[in-house]
Amino acid sequence: MFFRKKSLQSNQPDAAARAVHTLAENHNLTPAQHARCATWADRLQQLYDGADAYCARHGIDPALAFPDNEWRDIVPRTGATFRKTYNDINYLRLNAPFAGYHLPILDRLDVRSFPDDFGAGLVTRLGRDGIPDGIAAELDRLYAARDRLSPLVPEYLEFVRNVPPRYHVRTPRMLGEIGIEVDGVLVNADVILCQSRINAMLSGGVLDKLERDIARHGRARVVEVGSGWGALGYALRAILGDRLEYVAIDLPTSLYCAALYLGVTHDWQNSHLLLPDDPVPDSFEFLFVANYMMEEVADRIGPVDLALNCMSFPEMSAAQVRSYGVFFQRVLRVDGVVFDENAAIKPHHTDSKAILGSLFPFRRPVSAGLIKTKNDCQDIWASRYLGEIFDRSDAMYLRR
Ligand SMILES: C[S@@+](CC[C@H](N)C(=O)[O-])C[C@H]1O[C@@H](n2cnc3c(N)ncnc32)[C@H](O)[C@@H]1O
Repeated sequence: MFFRKKSLQSNQPDAAARAVHTLAENHNLTPAQHARCATWADRLQQLYDGADAYCARHGIDPALAFPDNEWRDIVPRTGATFRKTYNDINYLRLNAPFAGYHLPILDRLDVRSFPDDFGAGLVTRLGRDGIPDGIAAELDRLYAARDRLSPLVPEYLEFVRNVPPRYHVRTPRMLGEIGIEVDGVLVNADVILCQSRINAMLSGGVLDKLERDIARHGRARVVEVGSGWGALGYALRAILGDRLEYVAIDLPTSLYCAALYLGVTHDWQNSHLLLPDDPVPDSFEFLFVANYMMEEVADRIGPVDLALNCMSFPEMSAAQVRSYGVFFQRVLRVDGVVFDENAAIKPHHTDSKAILGSLFPFRRPVSAGLIKTKNDCQDIWASRYLGEIFDRSDAMYLRR
């Protein structure tokens, strides 16, 4: 077996009996699900290939539309081919290291926790050639006797301490997910990061606000720019149910991941991938929008209750961040808020906090006392003073 289903060796008494959920144990896509994903991959390819012509037709500044700053070197402006093979979609998460953690090696490549015994080569090969047949058996062989997950268990347990179970992040057992079982949840580093973001939104009163929005307006609409493979959208939807309307805005190459991941895991119910000139539906569950179509949808996407950006504004150009900030101002409801988790830690990073600060007069850094959050760079922004958010140091204390 890839990871022994039996006990994992660990000093932690907690981890002693935990099983690991392997790639081989996931649910595989049905042929019908794969076919539908392939159709969406074609539409995403159309969005990618058509970006230049769209910008020319609609007078969109290419400097805003095409990947810039860190992403200029990650995503080619032309010539990319969107993968449609069964393996590439069925194991989507193996090629989606948006937060730096690579599932095939259960480690980061930039700051390694484990020796690079095979990791970089494997990641490069999967990225370049796609996912081969027999990947589950291959990882099985590579990882035999390497336990990279049980060290995460004590950390994970810290992140769910004092968090009501309905806010525990859960991931689907499909699309390439791998994790260690903890109280019915599949845990890996990406799950811990997502839990930390949910915890910050809990402490900041943002999740309470969305629940009030649903009670008042019958729905809560959330827009996320730079959604990666859709982890946060998946978690919010699991917590708030089908009255959450979630919009992902991203470069077509990344939107591919979120659209397929969220589409297939929610059976495409009321999910839409917009092509140019498509109408914006009045209501939806998931809406996927290519970044360069932001202007086209701006007047029809609101009112939005929450705008999100995590770990991505600093990687864009200052002009792109400013244009998203202005877009947020434009589409947010009067009592709408922005939640961001960003830090300019590398010399080329854009100081996105300064840009948001120039656009939103009210800022509340999230301070979590009762529950744990990972990164000390989470803020809530608003255009006007909102007592329900700003009068509290930590909304979790209200639950005691
Ligand atoms: C480091 S990843 C973070 C993804 C996700 N938020 C997470 O934390 O896992 C950065 C994200 O920003 C997106 N991105 C980069 N440039 C963008 C742009 N100009 N417009 C919209 N999204 C962009 C990338 O495609 C990617 O989804």
